[in-house]
Amino acid sequence: MFLMSVFLCVAAGESLMAANKADITILPAPVKMEQSKGYFELNEQTQIVFQTGNSEGEKTAAYLASVLRPATGYALPVNAVSDAPANAIYLQIEDVKLGEEGYRLTVGKEGVALSAATSAGLFNGVQTLRQLLPPAIFNSSKVEKQSWKIPSMAIEDYPRFAWRGMMLDTARHFLPKEFIKKFIDTLAVHKMNRLHLHLTDDQGWRIEIKKYPKLTEVGAWRKETLVGHSGKNNQTFDGKRHGGFYTQDDLRELVVYAAERHITILPEIEMPGHAQAAIASYPELGNLSEQLPVHTSWGVNKNIFNVEEHTILFLQDVLAEVVDIFPGTYIHIGGDEAVKDQWKASEAVQKRMKELGIPDEAKMQSYFIARMNEFLKSKGRKLIGWDEILEGGLGKDATVMAWRGIEKAVEAAKAGNDVVMAPTTYTYFDYYQGKKEKEPLAIGGNLPLEKVYGFDPMSIDLEPEALKHVLGTQGQVWGEYIATPDYAEYMAFPRACALAEAAWTPQAQRNYEDFLARLKAHVMRLDALGVHYRALDK
Ligand code: ACM
Repeated sequence: MFLMSVFLCVAAGESLMAANKADITILPAPVKMEQSKGYFELNEQTQIVFQTGNSEGEKTAAYLASVLRPATGYALPVNAVSDAPANAIYLQIEDVKLGEEGYRLTVGKEGVALSAATSAGLFNGVQTLRQLLPPAIFNSSKVEKQSWKIPSMAIEDYPRFAWRGMMLDTARHFLPKEFIKKFIDTLAVHKMNRLHLHLTDDQGWRIEIKKYPKLTEVGAWRKETLVGHSGKNNQTFDGKRHGGFYTQDDLRELVVYAAERHITILPEIEMPGHAQAAIASYPELGNLSEQLPVHTSWGVNKNIFNVEEHTILFLQDVLAEVVDIFPGTYIHIGGDEAVKDQWKASEAVQKRMKELGIPDEAKMQSYFIARMNEFLKSKGRKLIGWDEILEGGLGKDATVMAWRGIEKAVEAAKAGNDVVMAPTTYTYFDYYQGKKEKEPLAIGGNLPLEKVYGFDPMSIDLEPEALKHVLGTQGQVWGEYIATPDYAEYMAFPRACALAEAAWTPQAQRNYEDFLARLKAHVMRLDALGVHYRALDK
């Protein structure tokens, strides 16, 4: 049994942390790591093994074999064993007391032992193991003349936050399914575990809803798109039809693909604002008598859903299909930027408010959201929305995605709501990441890598009891000016690498210089993966 010798070897080996630190470039940085002398060398005879009868271990073992195969060219066998043989990577489910997603990884001359309480923990350990190998391990085809050494060491690791995510806006520009899979693979490398898909907005409806086919027949297509930042009086359009949508089968495929990588997809259906594509499909959902087009320019839009009972029921029907596709606990209902001009001007809305005894438009929105919350609860799910859902009052069981500022997170947590930190100032990856003149066109703003890295989601003015409501953080890739997968990657990385570390690594251990040193090696991994990240500043 090699395990004992692995542990003894680590215990006896002198700590090389200080001397050799630069060689170990795990990102996000692990909680505890001790390097010792020597290494394990992966070769054609190495086996990947798991405990007999442990189907979770088996799945992770198969995943590990699949990610090691292309670059090494080794068809590493995956076997069930009761005792680990020599020259093996042994995956075990056992209570290592490192939480739901934590793992212990031990590398010695004779083999590798990876233990975790759950398969999610094993999966995180596998990501670390990949990063202990040379960056070329991330290549998609065989790398010649490369030895596959893993330095001897012991790691204990677990995340700071349970919510570590990224958002992709597929509504402003449709992003192909195959790109979303690639993005999921890249998130997995960073131990991120949520992918938020913004599926509906004024400019496009991207999710097939069987009961309402016009949502995609009409709502998934716009006539053309605004060019650049042209203002209201001087707009030029590209004259090109744009659109696309995901079938329910596509989305189920993505859900499974993500789940195999321990990533939960969070679907977002926007309401009551950002609704023009839906209203263009079914005009009876809106407040005006005219037929609206799917929107072709950007910005906050006055065309929001009306408050009729048939509209509420329509949206609940949509959510019923959404719940059926996406098994995750949370469903995002948008809730942001719903300007109330049309509600104020509409006789029908005012009449409905009177009937319901609702005194103002903020409370009307609160009623709207409460109806969705009730519905989602009846399906065993939880509602999450942008921080405007606080306006007019919000049930404590709803979760708030705080985007307009830290003070919105404080307000939500003080009110007893759970919060995901998504402030524009640190997590809006549609902002410029360098000097505007030197960057491709973006929406505006300025969010360089160092600023993202400097984000501490817990650095907010709250009592410890309220701080417990902070679930974690995520980065936003809004799509107005992000029309292609390559550009989405450019905007997401390396800023998502910095955010991944803010979400994973204990705050006291974080250091920007140290991160940058590791990032220099990490971008070689991104190169091997074919990720079109923005080059690091010299
Ligand atoms: C948002 O950026 N409107 C959530």
